[in-house]
Amino acid sequence: MRKVQKHYDEVAEIYDRRYDREQGRQYYDHISRQVLGCLDGGAFILDIGCGTGLFMERYLARGGSAIGIDISRGMIRRARDRCPMSEFVVGDGQALPFAGGTFDAVASLLAFSYVREPARMLSEVYRVLKPGGRLALCTLGRNMLTSMVPALYRIGELIEVKGIGVGDFGEHYYTEDEMVVLLEGTGFSEVTVKRCSFAHVAMAKPFFEIARRVEPFVEERVPRLAYNICASAIKPRP
Ligand SMILES: C[S@@+](CC[C@H](N)C(=O)[O-])C[C@H]1O[C@@H](n2cnc3c(N)ncnc32)[C@H](O)[C@@H]1O
Repeated sequence: MRKVQKHYDEVAEIYDRRYDREQGRQYYDHISRQVLGCLDGGAFILDIGCGTGLFMERYLARGGSAIGIDISRGMIRRARDRCPMSEFVVGDGQALPFAGGTFDAVASLLAFSYVREPARMLSEVYRVLKPGGRLALCTLGRNMLTSMVPALYRIGELIEVKGIGVGDFGEHYYTEDEMVVLLEGTGFSEVTVKRCSFAHVAMAKPFFEIARRVEPFVEERVPRLAYNICASAIKPRP
């Protein structure tokens, strides 16, 4: 975890260049829409691995309030600039510093792959949610294309390629089935898991444009090619 924290502290100043303009913004808007679609507006949410607050900004634009938590102090610093009215905490999603039943909903985007003990984080999410509260999580899924990414990132680290997310972080990309087992094993109900995104921020522009055009078709008809997994689940009422 220390290595992930150090990495995001180092890239915090450049992180938004990737997701805050042109195709990065289109990519991020796309995955945010999937997560926003799972959440009620106007609620009180926790964003785990909130980074620079890109998702929180989008959520808050619909009303409601949010707290962000992230292990990287550097990312949190940027998030405070982006969402000055919100509260942010430097901390670990696997040990949430909040009382049980605090939040209406929990969101987490592009962070779950780094978590070493996913069952521990999910039981923490379960604990801090109010009964009837919802988790909406978006993380890179495992498919033929993405299964090569951690190995490529490891090579990137060896040959000293600098880039956001590039490194040997022991990341885990989930299949739909793994995600369902994890969520149901924690006690969540109404678990839905679907794939989204075919146009990836890292693609060269012409490929990105083509991928965007076929994205709705891929998501609907060939979801195995889509990169991200978007999972939603409810903490049942007693
Ligand atoms: C790719 S960034 C995503 C940031 C933000 N959610 C977004 O969508 O832009 C991954 C973030 O997860 C954070 N992170 C990784 N492991 C974490 C953990 N165990 N607890 C809290 N944050 C974590 C990192 O520090 C980093 O800010």
